[in-house]
Amino acid sequence: MRVEASPLATRHPSPATGAKHLYIHIPFCLQICPYCSFYKDIAGPGKADPLVEAIIREAELFGNRCAPHTVFIGGGTPTALSVTQLERLFAGLQRHLDFTDTDEFTIEMNPATVTARKAELLRGFGVNRVSMGVQSWDPHLLKLLGRVHDADQVRRSFAILREAGFDNLNLDLIYGVPGQSLAQWEDSIRQTVGLGPEHISAYCLTYEEDTEYFERMTRGEFREDVESDAGFFERGVEMLSAAGYGQYEISNHARPGRECRHNLAYWEGADYLGLGPSAWSTIGERRWQNAPDTAAYVQAVQAGVRPLRNEEILPAATREAEKIAFGLRMNAGIDPARLAERHELISGLREEGLLEDHGPRVRLTPRGRLLADEIAAELI
Ligand SMILES: C[S@@+](CC[C@H](N)C(=O)[O-])C[C@H]1O[C@@H](n2cnc3c(N)ncnc32)[C@H](O)[C@@H]1O
Ligand code: SF4
Repeated sequence: MRVEASPLATRHPSPATGAKHLYIHIPFCLQICPYCSFYKDIAGPGKADPLVEAIIREAELFGNRCAPHTVFIGGGTPTALSVTQLERLFAGLQRHLDFTDTDEFTIEMNPATVTARKAELLRGFGVNRVSMGVQSWDPHLLKLLGRVHDADQVRRSFAILREAGFDNLNLDLIYGVPGQSLAQWEDSIRQTVGLGPEHISAYCLTYEEDTEYFERMTRGEFREDVESDAGFFERGVEMLSAAGYGQYEISNHARPGRECRHNLAYWEGADYLGLGPSAWSTIGERRWQNAPDTAAYVQAVQAGVRPLRNEEILPAATREAEKIAFGLRMNAGIDPARLAERHELISGLREEGLLEDHGPRVRLTPRGRLLADEIAAELI
């Protein structure tokens, strides 16, 4: 992919000023899962070192000494980097960004990449939250999902993280996997709750275009089952809430006070800066995405050019509609005054039992949450 400076980029060389939320994308994985559409790549020899240098350089050139309150290093699998690479990355970021006011600092890990040395190093650099992909506890489903770890490795990795002093851990689960039974889903929730993480994300499997799973669905090997997904979703909310994990967004459940502040900021429509290949940023009226191509990204940054794939000016109405759509996904809901201009759509949703009052606010009903994507599409 060729990356060119857009006319917007030339006029506004660095619009990052003021973002209080920082995302950094590390695209490497040990193995590619067949359902995943994040921008990712196998960490081959010679790829990771230049990427680490490029991210540091992007922070220096275009980060405007960002002083984030929350940081989320995601991927891919950031901990697919070696200890030395992680050390260089963090030391470089600390030179060019200001982490003095950072109160939540998350990194994503795959259970197969957790080691005591990495955990200790990350703690030393101020990382205070880890999000780990578990997906399932069933050995057959783990295999079908192409996961590189087994259930025992999840237990060991979780123990290593606790030992290193992490007291804010999230575990990701996926439901609606082909052939998954309700009993298997309940067992995955039970085992996850048994470890006692502070936060649990439960995602419905999405058949994303350009994935092996999507092709298998197109060939008729897999099929989406909206009704059974709804059953998994409802049972998940019920079991997690009984175990003390309050649902605060459709797919997110936390012990009181352990909601992910970084994601809450996104959903509330705050500005955020993204560094690394494929990362999105939204600052004021501007939204841009970095090139989802590691080589092109590295080349652009080395040449001192913003590594853009695209950049756009967002109409205020679009940003407001996005905030409403995200706000409705949250259990706290939104101020009904913000819906005044969408009167017809809103009363339609109420009549269909998809929207309800929640104290002085308004939010999706449990049934509405099952249709959140469709409702968001109508709003935006
Ligand atoms: C970047 S990964 C997490 C860290 C690490 N790469 C791993 O997989 O263990 C982000 C999470 O997104 C979820 N995810 C990815 N693709 C998905 C899909 N197609 N449908 C539902 N959830 C998905 C998974 O739960 C995954 O843990
Ligand atoms: S789910 Fe995680 S480990 Fe699997 S390919 Fe996606 S980013 Fe990589």
